[in-house]
Amino acid sequence: MDKLEVYGARKLKGKVLISGSKNASLPILAASILSNKKIILKNLPNVKDIKTMIKLLGSIGSSVRYLKNKNSIEIKNKSKIKTFASYNLVKTMRAGILVLGPMLAKYGNAKVSTPGGCTIGVRPIDIHLKALGKLGVNYKIIDGYVYANSKKKLKGAKIKFPKISVGATENLIIAASMAEGSTILSNCAIEPEVKDLVNFINCMGGKIKWIGKRTIKIEGVKNFKEVKYTIMPDRIEAGTYLIAAAVTEGNLKILGINPNIIRTEIEILKKLGLKIKIEKNQINVVGVKDIKSINLKTSPYPGFPTDLQAQLMVLLCMSKKISTISEEIFENRFMHVAELNRMGAKIKTKGNKAFIEGNTKFKSAELMATDLRASVSLILAALIAKGKTTINRIYHLDRGYEEIEKKLRKLGAKIKRVS
Ligand code: EPZ
Repeated sequence: MDKLEVYGARKLKGKVLISGSKNASLPILAASILSNKKIILKNLPNVKDIKTMIKLLGSIGSSVRYLKNKNSIEIKNKSKIKTFASYNLVKTMRAGILVLGPMLAKYGNAKVSTPGGCTIGVRPIDIHLKALGKLGVNYKIIDGYVYANSKKKLKGAKIKFPKISVGATENLIIAASMAEGSTILSNCAIEPEVKDLVNFINCMGGKIKWIGKRTIKIEGVKNFKEVKYTIMPDRIEAGTYLIAAAVTEGNLKILGINPNIIRTEIEILKKLGLKIKIEKNQINVVGVKDIKSINLKTSPYPGFPTDLQAQLMVLLCMSKKISTISEEIFENRFMHVAELNRMGAKIKTKGNKAFIEGNTKFKSAELMATDLRASVSLILAALIAKGKTTINRIYHLDRGYEEIEKKLRKLGAKIKRVS
């Protein structure tokens, strides 16, 4: 298994270009099942989860080929595909459940593995299934698979999600895009990645409109047209580099990101004392010595994202006073705390609340990555710990950060992958 060796302490300086968004690419790849026409997708991040989703599409009969580089593909679906998504593909990439909606909308049946939990939580799909039931889907779960079918074509309905769920919103947007009549979805997730999915489906002929802050109206259509679509940039990658500049007291220009989609993160980092200047498609951030403290809750967009919670925790360790973070989205997303404490952090957790003492002098150590975002928080801490830190199980990292060592080395980090 690969591991990373990181030598601190290093300040990050220079320019970094943000890759395409993993969490926009995954639902858009799933939505491609709806169409029989040629689809060209650009700016896909070359990361493990995308390769797994492409493998999943191939396994059901879609023909997917890379174009000039690993960031753009052409998809062509045959009229008949296998409406089956296997456990070994879905277990490592829970977004595989997003193929359920399009399979049911287009073919009226599907056998899809339930995602199974991961270290951050149980990852249930009850909201997805109940909402699909309202479109006329019958389903049962047997031996870890969802067996679903609809006697007739899916029928539009009015659906109010009981809780904000990115995946359930996306699954239903895709399913309703080919249902008969119109569907109104309310209490939707409004993450920029959900908006990118809506734009993509509309570009290929869908009829989806935001009729309220969290309400969408979808007119089902029968077929779609050829489309060429460029995936939005990854706001979590951008936020990670913003925090990396802060943690290392560096000076970064973050290119290729629209600052509007990470406004909350920018405001919070400014509150912590960072100097941030935003331009049209670029953010300049300069790290400072004095980091202030904060009491923060993660929340659905436009709140502070759970996917940046671990990274921010490293920065709060540099503050002089106690900070707290309440993790409101996932039930077990503090796996990085034990590893950070082994590097000298003084963080206590009680339920979903973490108390970060601050004044930390990170020391290098041998560490274990546990999930995608926790892995990158260990790299941030390793960048400021004197000496060599080794991070094991970095396959977690490879799921969602494109060429992270290369990008960090270009910014002055001393980091290498050891197989
Ligand atoms: C998406 O996961 C993202 N993944 C996650 O990013 C992100 O952390 C999460 O949204 C929250 O923003 C992708 O987009 C591929 P949810 P998702 O449904 O859709 C509960 C990363 O690091 N829930 O919004 O699975 C659920 O347990 C990943 O890139 C139900 O109870 O998240 C959680 O507590 C990690 N029943 C909460 O809702 C359901 O049917 C929010 O989950 C569905 C969800």
